[in-house]
Amino acid sequence: MTLSLSTEATAVAIAPRGPLSAELLDVLADRRPERAENLPQLARDAVLVEDPITDDDVQLSLFLLYSVAYGSLPQFGAHWEWDVSLLATRAVLERAFEDAVRAAVPLPEAPQPTREDVAAALFALAAPQPGPSLSHFVSRKADVDQARELLMQRSIYTLREADAHSWAIPRLTGRAKAALIEIQADEYGGGRVERMHQVMFADAMRGAGLDDTYGAYVDVVPAITFASFNLMTMFALNRRLQGAVVGHLAAFEMTSSLPSRAIAEGLRRLGFGDDVAAYYDEHVEADAVHEQIAARDLAGSQAEDAPELLDDILFGAAACLTVDGWASEHILHAWEAGRSSLRDERQSA
Ligand SMILES: [Fe+2]
Ligand SMILES: [Fe+2]
Repeated sequence: MTLSLSTEATAVAIAPRGPLSAELLDVLADRRPERAENLPQLARDAVLVEDPITDDDVQLSLFLLYSVAYGSLPQFGAHWEWDVSLLATRAVLERAFEDAVRAAVPLPEAPQPTREDVAAALFALAAPQPGPSLSHFVSRKADVDQARELLMQRSIYTLREADAHSWAIPRLTGRAKAALIEIQADEYGGGRVERMHQVMFADAMRGAGLDDTYGAYVDVVPAITFASFNLMTMFALNRRLQGAVVGHLAAFEMTSSLPSRAIAEGLRRLGFGDDVAAYYDEHVEADAVHEQIAARDLAGSQAEDAPELLDDILFGAAACLTVDGWASEHILHAWEAGRSSLRDERQSA
């Protein structure tokens, strides 16, 4: 595979992956805006697939619709953000995606809705699993191309790190809100732009010779990579999923510190410099703190203050672990089979 490594900040061209994303790309680019009203029906057809979680057309389309809310792909105008046809399309995709995730994710037994019991249940759920892991592979075996591939895969979320969960801030109150803001303040560098985690990740990409333009690798990542990003965005943008976004962030923070150490070791073993490893170094320390705040002060307090959210807090945590686990397995299985985890760009046509 030949990858463009241009560092010019240009609007990225994105290839469709089916009838829905083809029409959606034409609408969003204002080539055929009058076709927007066809999109909800195309979405209803698109979600009839066996597995919406791994379907390229469904997941790319949801990713594109969310990009209009984030403003992360500037070629798609802000006038589409609240377009009723696009919102209806998004709702169809979200319902199918949420139903599929709820059907696929095993839930732990519910603890008492107390701060400490909920934190203990989340720590048990997020405990490291025995067996092969992506971060262990990166630490010991990955080659330079695989390390760069990991950064490309992760760029879909990490160049926008923390932005999804920030959408939950106004929905929370009291202790949970204070805890989320404490975590997010670190994620955004505590007032220092160069310490913003999304900026540190962009530095890592450039240091590894990659393009840090948002969306530069959209055409080469698989549907499951979008699913990981779409999951947290869906939880964060829907007030009815407030418990799930809290659980998602808790599980995310609780499974970051140890893998970050392993990945930083792998990057140094391969000869990458501090500019590339610094993002992962930062997460060894930061997330050892964040996981405590997220488990007790965010998720635990939220369950204590609003026990009706407990089931969705557990669902959000389990969904994060399951879907992100699939995204990591996709990469690991490809590498173990001697393949790239990226899509062949010829499939995009
Ligand atoms: Fe972070
Ligand atoms: Fe964190």
